[in-house]
Amino acid sequence: MKQYIIYLLTLTLIFQLSCAKKMGETSAKVKKDPFIEDLLKKMTLDEKLGQMSLFTTDWESTGPTIRAGYQNDIRSGRCGALFNSHTVDFTTKLQKIAVEESRLKIPLLFGYDVIHGYKTMFPIPLGEAASWDLFAIENSAYIMSKEGAAAGLHWTFAPMVDISRDPRWGRVLEGSGEDPFLGSRIAEARVRGIQGKQTGQTDRLLACVKHFAAYGAPNAGRDYNPAEISERVFREVYLPTYASAVKAGAKTVMTSFNDYDGVPASGNKYLLTDILRKELGFDGFVVTDYTSINEMVKHGVVKDETDAGILAIQAGVDMDMQGGVFQEKIKDGINDGRIKEEQINQSVRTILKIKKDLGLFEDPFKYSSKERESNTILSKAHLEASHDMAKRSIVLLKNDNTLPLKDKTIKILVTGPLADDKNNLIGAWSASGEGRHCVSMYEGLRAHENSKRCTFEYIKGCNVDDKDKSQFEIVLEAAKKADVIILAIGENKDMSGEATSRTMIRIPGVQEELLLALKAIGKPIITVVMNGRPLVLDKVHDHSNAVLETWWLGTQAGHAIAEVIYGVYNPSGKLPMTFPRNEGQIPIFYNEKNTGRPFNPNDKYSSKYIDIPNTPLYPFGYGLSYTSFTFGPPLSNKKLYSLKENVVVTVEIQNTGNYPGEEVVQLYIRDLVSSVTRPVKELKGFQKVFLKKGEKKTLSFTLTPNDLSFYNQNMEWVIEPGDFEIFIGGDSDTQNKVKITIL
Ligand code: NOJ
Repeated sequence: MKQYIIYLLTLTLIFQLSCAKKMGETSAKVKKDPFIEDLLKKMTLDEKLGQMSLFTTDWESTGPTIRAGYQNDIRSGRCGALFNSHTVDFTTKLQKIAVEESRLKIPLLFGYDVIHGYKTMFPIPLGEAASWDLFAIENSAYIMSKEGAAAGLHWTFAPMVDISRDPRWGRVLEGSGEDPFLGSRIAEARVRGIQGKQTGQTDRLLACVKHFAAYGAPNAGRDYNPAEISERVFREVYLPTYASAVKAGAKTVMTSFNDYDGVPASGNKYLLTDILRKELGFDGFVVTDYTSINEMVKHGVVKDETDAGILAIQAGVDMDMQGGVFQEKIKDGINDGRIKEEQINQSVRTILKIKKDLGLFEDPFKYSSKERESNTILSKAHLEASHDMAKRSIVLLKNDNTLPLKDKTIKILVTGPLADDKNNLIGAWSASGEGRHCVSMYEGLRAHENSKRCTFEYIKGCNVDDKDKSQFEIVLEAAKKADVIILAIGENKDMSGEATSRTMIRIPGVQEELLLALKAIGKPIITVVMNGRPLVLDKVHDHSNAVLETWWLGTQAGHAIAEVIYGVYNPSGKLPMTFPRNEGQIPIFYNEKNTGRPFNPNDKYSSKYIDIPNTPLYPFGYGLSYTSFTFGPPLSNKKLYSLKENVVVTVEIQNTGNYPGEEVVQLYIRDLVSSVTRPVKELKGFQKVFLKKGEKKTLSFTLTPNDLSFYNQNMEWVIEPGDFEIFIGGDSDTQNKVKITIL
């Protein structure tokens, strides 16, 4: 066995150790601020616990109202923050109660789930991730933040950075897919976009990194289920995105509902203190997810809510979302000494400091400008940015040259339940977004100037999720007269998101049957899929001439899809998550281990299924273009590198097709021999590059020792000498590689 040398990854670790020294407690140790210390001295215990309590208004179900009880809590200082409270009118009304009627006049903090848009909706986060375009993603996060802040908000519960390898879990919609490297870069971009450089700008919100931790690994893909994964997998796959978001400066972190290694996240000191505070150096405040303190009773780790609250405080929670446990139940724990009041003071300090940094003590109505609200929300520039992001998020999954519909005069049949639908385009977690502001695919197709050379017929054909086939006959008659069929099928927006786990992830209802019936007519079919997660698209693939994955693209969806169909925009999206052939392959992901019996078609006793190939339908990183790109071999100007050296690899890429276009050039590594098994491929770099027809470019990638490191058997982060393969290509299947050796 090869001897291994531990190379301490200096900067990260030194940083971690120094943080560990500084923190050493469950709550952040913020530098004492005389104003806050003075305020703290005046606060009663109830008022302190009030600052640690967050409640929802009744907005979501009943319009802008708040229960009388909560209003009284604001008056008595027993509620310091509200969520689902937005619009300048409503937040101003609530803020007035706090600063005019409460004893200490501490302003409220207003939060909301602004996840992929406030009113101008952008593609769902999984869709944006398919763009691999960090600049566009940061800009989209900025715009949603700007609209939210213009509506009186201070805080969004985003970004959700949960990595997931399981498309049965509906919340994959809200993350950036399966890969820790791509996910980390996107997490950083989103935090930057949401928060900007400094707290207190009136066009930015506070970010909330969620859900800490491992919420994306629920057993069997069922929401809220425990995450039963090893420490190694947790640290290598799930932790990096949270770490990157914290390093990018996120001011708040939300706990998750699940337990990790037997301990629910909201009572998990290892997660919240040892890792989050000490290792990652997080110095903002930790809020729980919705009533997750109370839920620790049902998890069975505490006998009642008082004990749950005490466990949460001891673990490192600063703010209780909606559970009322901090407000009502934990005073006993303080009185009998199980919690020290200084621990409460630490949490309150951190929360008040953030309110102060927002500028709320100087001006509690800083974010309450009616003029800014009306000039900002749904502005022309925001709609343009949403349009741009939407087209970058589309992935071309199949094309036999039916697309693009360029320079042809044709009769188009537009059909499918989502073809002229607006309401689903905003997707789940759509904040204040409204379907009526969206452009449907059919509207987009007709609105584009290229539509002048086309004639259209539109028939809905069927619904998303029932068995009614009564329109099939007229659709098929229309298909006979058409030159091409554009069929939009997929999920309704409430089929992916929170609490929407599915065991069967095919296109629901009779939509596939409609496709098959159309196929029998013999006309070219362009299938446009709209959905919130990877689906089983085997039939769609087999029976369509072209397939576009369009997720839920937001307010400008129809315009973006039309530009791709007409060839005005050449699609460049790449899948951020593997699409399986069927559900039995799940979990399926590209960065798997090799096994001792890797796949061998001629050996029964190798790792495989007897009924289906091991490979997915579409791998991670996959996506076609209207042009073609040719890669030269990856080149390294030397073969041998020392342990501390950066490895530099270059590659030449050429646009060898007939259209200008963008390619996402992806770099993967494989550590060939190491003291613990390593994935067959790991993404470690990517660049999105635009090439004119015939154009060539040479790209350079630098891999640091950190990029080549992993946790050894002692869970030390090391780089081991030996051979590495470095692959560069257009998706995770690439075999275009060079070998280098670390000495
Ligand atoms: C529960 C969800 O898990 C979380 O992501 C969200 O922020 C809260 N509810 C508040 O709506």
